[in-house]
Amino acid sequence: MTIRAVPVGIGHYLPARVVENAEFEKTLDTSDAWIRSRSGIERRHFAAEDETTSQMAIAAGTAALTHAGLTAADIDALVVATSTPDLTFPSVATMVQAGLGMTGGFAFDVQAVCAGFVFALANANALIVSGQARRVMVIGAETFSRIMDWTDRSTCVLFGDGAGALILEAQDGAGTSDDRGVLATDLNSDGTHRDLLYVDGGVSSTQSTGVLRMEGQEVFRHAVEKLAQTADAALTKAGLSHDDIAWIVPHQANLRIIKRTAQKLGVDMDRVVVTVQDHGNTSAASIPLALSVGVARGQIKPGDLLVAEAIGGGLAWGAVVLRW
Ligand code: UT7
Repeated sequence: MTIRAVPVGIGHYLPARVVENAEFEKTLDTSDAWIRSRSGIERRHFAAEDETTSQMAIAAGTAALTHAGLTAADIDALVVATSTPDLTFPSVATMVQAGLGMTGGFAFDVQAVCAGFVFALANANALIVSGQARRVMVIGAETFSRIMDWTDRSTCVLFGDGAGALILEAQDGAGTSDDRGVLATDLNSDGTHRDLLYVDGGVSSTQSTGVLRMEGQEVFRHAVEKLAQTADAALTKAGLSHDDIAWIVPHQANLRIIKRTAQKLGVDMDRVVVTVQDHGNTSAASIPLALSVGVARGQIKPGDLLVAEAIGGGLAWGAVVLRW
């Protein structure tokens, strides 16, 4: 018998305010046509002024508990992937723990920017297969609208806010790639690329929050090269190939990156969950949002083999192979 971390619930939350591309035309030298054609983004959600990352995470977590038919007392570990916490500390995860009414177990944040959910999922899987937790809630939640330079048209039109939550449960598997649950993970980072994508403020440097800075073209180049590589590496570890993929659930940064990666993996676009047009780039929230929307649309079904892949600041990148 092999212990597998099997998905039993999924949910998401998007803030009420929807901002169409055309709104940026009022304040910036940009156009709906440019944003659509270069990124695939049509609209994004922005959090209300008093709405925080932890509040959105609690809403997504509550939706996932309802979907799973569980209560907070059934969860013994909570991992939140975020780069936009409410406060410097405590972690968003402990705020969500209290907000959901979880009095036991443990909670912590993972910071791997846009790859955060993949890193958090790999950690949650490790907690389950090593017997340290039985049910883990993994959340990606971000308020990237708080770290935008609204005068920089090359970044501020790309990002959005939201949260998604996935509940994993320890179940016995046969130890084969037919098992449901996480089958393989592949994590990577290379800190020498720090300056390609970063926020120019922080606790020990400026004592301010800072705003996002990105060398878009360079990040694009790395994404196209590294996402297919990491997806391949995870598939190989699982003993599977491209032909086994039912759905790619990619980080939703740019439709052109999503298409190129699918092409490299030999997967048609009708087997890729795409939400970037409606959410923009929500960093660590983008994969759980896409999973939740993919399930709600009836695309992702039990038994489907999923490959989730992401890259972001660090650079940090990785993939998870998961049978739904
Ligand atoms: O989630 C973390 C990972 N992040 C990513 O994966 C993002 C990766 N990068 C990208 O998605 C793309 O590089 C962008 C969408 C950011 C930019 O697309 P691009 O095709 O690489 O455009 P570019 O940076 O080469 O810019 C082309 C032109 C430039 O003008 P010139 O120099 O050719 O005159 C830019 O100044 O487009 C201009 N431009 C804009 N024009 C209208 C940049 N932003 C805008 C804008 N509206 N919003």
